[in-house]
Amino acid sequence: KLFSEAQQASLYVAHQIANLINEKEKQGKPAVLGLATGNTPKGVYQELIRLHQNEALSFKNVISFNLDEYYPILPDDQQSYTYFMRQFLFKHVDIKPEHTHIPHTDFSEEGIAQYCQEYEDKIESLGGLDLQLLGIGRNGHIGFNEPGSSFESKTRLVHLNSVTREDAKAAFGSMDKVPQKAISIGVDTISKAKKIILLALGKRKSDIMKLAIHGDVTTQVPASILQTLPQAEFVLDHGAAGEI
Ligand code: GLP
Repeated sequence: KLFSEAQQASLYVAHQIANLINEKEKQGKPAVLGLATGNTPKGVYQELIRLHQNEALSFKNVISFNLDEYYPILPDDQQSYTYFMRQFLFKHVDIKPEHTHIPHTDFSEEGIAQYCQEYEDKIESLGGLDLQLLGIGRNGHIGFNEPGSSFESKTRLVHLNSVTREDAKAAFGSMDKVPQKAISIGVDTISKAKKIILLALGKRKSDIMKLAIHGDVTTQVPASILQTLPQAEFVLDHGAAGEI
């Protein structure tokens, strides 16, 4: 789906999420949302906050799982995705803190495999993700599933690729401060969501969007898997669409 302005694309995505939350509430069920970080979803969260404040959209039935988090990092670090979610969404709405999940990383690497399994189990015990919101990295990554990630992958510790670390440099101040690793939910975990929306905004995403939408379906471009998933939707602004 193509919009001329980023703002319109963000509103469209926010309204899809709000409709799902309201629909689930009518059914007396929780809405299980997969949430993303980065600059891209900020407009979506802004609109969700507006809907909460002006139209009484309630998050009390929302259970959220974030895609990923740097490793190692402390939740209070300003570059952490825990901090990001608090700043750009959670502190402005009535979501219950115990309903928000972001991969924790405050322990040694030995505990991580089990932690990741538990993250997967929690999602599954709730019947899976109702909606997964995605951004895209310039190298085609979704979450922190870098090029080469298996389409069968689950939540796990991953190594960040140099393009990703380069893009994170501004936030961390210098390259040596950017973590080498992260915890990310897998491509398979994402693929099982009942609805998937990938939002791409701005010209710097146009090359990768062309490959993700029209290129080969390959693990070298993790987002290309979405071409094969009927429940997936690409939402682009004019800049990201480029010559598509
Ligand atoms: C990070 C996140 C991704 C996100 C990507 C793009 O790598 N882990 O989930 O999609 O950045 O970020 P931005 O939206 O700022 O371009």
